Amino acid sequence: MPIKNRLSEMHAEITAWRRDLHENPELMYDVHRTAATVAARLREFGCDEVVEGVGRTGVVGVIKGRTDTRGHVVGLRADMDALPILEATGLPYASKTPGKMHACGHDGHTAMLLGAAKYLAETRNFDGSVAVVFQPAEEGGAGGEAMVKDGLIPRFGIKEIYGMHNSPGLPVGHFSIRPGPFYAATDNFTLHLSGKGGHAAYPHRTIDTTVMASQTVMTLQTIVARSIDPLESVVVSVTSLRTESEAWNVIPERVEIRGTVRTFDATMRKVAEERLKTIVTSTAQAFGGTVEIEWKPGYPSMVNAERETGFAVEVAAKISGKAAVDTQCPAIMGGEDFAYMLQACPGAYIQVGNGNTAEVHHPEYNFDDEAIPFGASYWAELVETRMPAA
Ligand code: NI
Repeated sequence: MPIKNRLSEMHAEITAWRRDLHENPELMYDVHRTAATVAARLREFGCDEVVEGVGRTGVVGVIKGRTDTRGHVVGLRADMDALPILEATGLPYASKTPGKMHACGHDGHTAMLLGAAKYLAETRNFDGSVAVVFQPAEEGGAGGEAMVKDGLIPRFGIKEIYGMHNSPGLPVGHFSIRPGPFYAATDNFTLHLSGKGGHAAYPHRTIDTTVMASQTVMTLQTIVARSIDPLESVVVSVTSLRTESEAWNVIPERVEIRGTVRTFDATMRKVAEERLKTIVTSTAQAFGGTVEIEWKPGYPSMVNAERETGFAVEVAAKISGKAAVDTQCPAIMGGEDFAYMLQACPGAYIQVGNGNTAEVHHPEYNFDDEAIPFGASYWAELVETRMPAA
């Protein structure tokens, strides 16, 4: 069974919603126009319940099936926020706000889930309930966590939850997914190194923070090389190294180093953090300096549940055919805050093809509207397959 006919009919309408969102991007939790638009549409579709302000600016719509013999609730989640990027697509519906842009396709995610909600509210061809979940602040604001902390899962009785993201490079109409760890835990660190500044001609009278920093950066490379099981995947990247001096003849007193640590496994996450702290502290000590470490835990690893991944594969294959579903795609070193929802409830996250476009977070990226019928049909079919009409 390919794309749902009704969703094909709605393609132009959903595309118009998507382009309206694209023109009006909003950041983090300040998605007031977007959330209000979503809530208004859900009410217009005749959702049984529409709740705003879940996790600050999140929106949840409840659609009841024709029957409800088991009290089952399936959650479907989309993200609503944009990025602080100056758009360079030159599209007629490009962002009207310079410096804000839907460069990750969350406009497409929101529009596709709205399309599915409209279809499901019209047809109600299932036994149970659906909670359509629209979250703010996916891009670094942990909006998913905010909604979970606000009781999302018990409040709406969600028993299983699904997420979706578009994927540039994957052909339109294709899906990719994997069971188990899918996206990495993303922890950041800032190191404040202190020594003793002075004249560059007399290094013996200083405690040279640039040498201390260089040694620190190099030794951090041994975490992955020497402390992590070679069969595990871990990344330690230093991304910023700043001294307070721009002169040729001054040894700076302070240096700041920033970077990120990516892991899939909770034990490896702990090992990487502990090794980093030990290396940084003892390196500073060896040079006679000091260091202050800021460790900033980010999103946890996003882990797809085995059983629900199986359901997602089955549904994606119904839409696009088995050959168009990659069931063992490589894990991704980026982060995704749907991780918090998957910690609270079993579920699965799938990628839908966006074709040969610029990468996400690029100023020339655009969501491909041709992906709409596939994504929206996947949502609708997921509900009808998981909770077949009695
Ligand atoms: Ni995204």
